[in-house]
Amino acid sequence: MNVKLLFGIALIGLSLQIAACGRSEVSFSADVQPILEVACLECHNNTGEGVAASGFSVVDYAAVMKGTELGPAVIPGSSMSSTLYRVIAGKTDPEIRMPPHHDESLAEGRGLSLGAEQIEIIGAWIDQGAKDN
Ligand code: HEC
Repeated sequence: MNVKLLFGIALIGLSLQIAACGRSEVSFSADVQPILEVACLECHNNTGEGVAASGFSVVDYAAVMKGTELGPAVIPGSSMSSTLYRVIAGKTDPEIRMPPHHDESLAEGRGLSLGAEQIEIIGAWIDQGAKDN
């Protein structure tokens, strides 16, 4: 077999391995914002009930970083210290899990938790520094 070809195959294998190890950089606009738009914007837009109750808006990057009435919801570099991550990952009191999952909304097929993949994307974005990228 051709040595060049063998070397090429080995190189492809190596780059696949590098790509698989660890999540590549998460983008706010391409990865995080679409999730927030579908699952949160309805209540956390400028006038929604989530904004009225907590001050937290997800209309854009600046609003997400501004946080709630009580302070920042995102601590860049630490998803575990970030309210935004804790409320979606079920790490808070069930009362303030997001999206809110009251019996009525669940019966209507709303208020379901985000999928594991979506939760992981938001967590990774925070852990990577919560960049405006
Ligand atoms: C059906 C409306 C609704 C949806 C959908 C919703 N929220 Fe909320 N959110 C609220 C309300 C209301 C509050 C105020 C706290 C409470 O009374 O439960 C709140 C509070 C919050 C807070 C502040 C919690 C605190 O302790 O300060 C964060 C952060 C938050 N929501 C994030 C989200 C995220 C992220 C999503 C999407 C995954 C989401 N919310 C979806 C209504 C909503």
